[in-house]
Amino acid sequence: MKVLVVGNGGREHALAWKIKQSPLVDRLYAAKGNAGIWQIAEKVNISPTDIPALVEFAKKEKIDLTIVGPEQPLSEGIADAFEEAGLKIFGHRKSSAILEASKVFAKNFMKKYGIPTAFYETFDNENDAINFIRAKGAPIVIKADGLAAGKGVIIANTIEEAEKAVKEMFAGKFGNASKRIVIEEFLEGEEASYIAMVKGEQLVPMATSQDHKRVFDNDQGPNTGGMGAYSPAPIVDKKIEQQILEKIMYPTLKGMKKEGRELCGFLYAGLMIGPKGINVLEFNVRMGDPETQPIMRRLESDLVEHILDILDGKIDKVSPKWSGKYSVGVVMASGGYPEKYEKGFEITGIEEAEKDKDVIVFHAGTDIKDGRLITAGGRVLTITAIGETLKEAKEKAYNAVGKIKFKNAHYRKDIADKGISRLGE
Ligand code: AMP
Ligand code: GLY
Repeated sequence: MKVLVVGNGGREHALAWKIKQSPLVDRLYAAKGNAGIWQIAEKVNISPTDIPALVEFAKKEKIDLTIVGPEQPLSEGIADAFEEAGLKIFGHRKSSAILEASKVFAKNFMKKYGIPTAFYETFDNENDAINFIRAKGAPIVIKADGLAAGKGVIIANTIEEAEKAVKEMFAGKFGNASKRIVIEEFLEGEEASYIAMVKGEQLVPMATSQDHKRVFDNDQGPNTGGMGAYSPAPIVDKKIEQQILEKIMYPTLKGMKKEGRELCGFLYAGLMIGPKGINVLEFNVRMGDPETQPIMRRLESDLVEHILDILDGKIDKVSPKWSGKYSVGVVMASGGYPEKYEKGFEITGIEEAEKDKDVIVFHAGTDIKDGRLITAGGRVLTITAIGETLKEAKEKAYNAVGKIKFKNAHYRKDIADKGISRLGE
């Protein structure tokens, strides 16, 4: 069969890498992909958000299955358009993707269905927002309503910082995405990512994982899309997983169905686990990036077969097989990300890094220019490694990172440390 992957990031490279291994797949296409994806898939020179062109391509090429990586095309209706054209696609409709596309919707939805989340208010003007901040004090969290590539959330440690964030957002820092904002209580604890494949009221959990949102070590600096992840995440033990399923995942599926916004695709709950229990920070209607990279390294069964079964109404028989090993992914980013950064620098050392058979380098912002591999985005690569222990996986990943060079490369040195100390390794 012919499969199309939509997206350009490290997540899509990891998905494409896994899909390529499926015996069901004869031809793999990527729109638009990156330099790593083009080594294993045929490049389709269409932007992930050019939905009419993607539909036309899929019809013409008779694509049997399309898998969508990022949120933007989902929130712009790619699944609706493919379905209308009679094309098979794994990804939520626009009416469901709002669970990620609007934080105001997501917070109101959680409140309505009793899904645990931080106390909040929503605002559409500066004065009310600032009065609320002065009444509540700091630390406090300011969130742009709309999509902002993981950067529209400010954790303000002082009232001054919070007021500055509010002013910038209403001045249009994130365009329409920050015309409305959510201000919420700061929650203490440790984060985890809980991802499942879902359809209607049913789900199949993926392996657990933990991301590292802040740009610098020890969770310092601004939020990013994610600087590294590992799987499994020992913070999510069996008991906690049961609670996540009972109190968060299933009520979300039921609630969304009740709202006439039935889900079909990947569902990601970003969680804070701490003194106030397990709370949802956000929902994503897709897999995480970089969580997908270490998760896919541990998936031993056939992702394409699982997705086809789910779409065919046979979710009951879907039972993914996970490796018992640990997996770590370290993001190498362009220095300056998530703010301003330069690109176009040559990348070397990937072949050397992959000489360790446990290492795979997934590309994100990469391109080819004059036959050379160059940086082309904020997050450039995710270096993944598998190990018998989490510590071993971390060591292998960083050993590989040390072999890869590009100008101004930045990466965190503490990816997986929380898990390693929890495991006592
Ligand atoms: P979100 O996009 O809503 O998940 O927010 C991005 C990141 O900001 C999260 O992954 C957390 O690291 C942090 N964050 C968001 N909301 C809160 C909160 N209420 N308390 C503490 N940290 C938060
Ligand atoms: N890594 C977090 C996200 O994909 O939103």
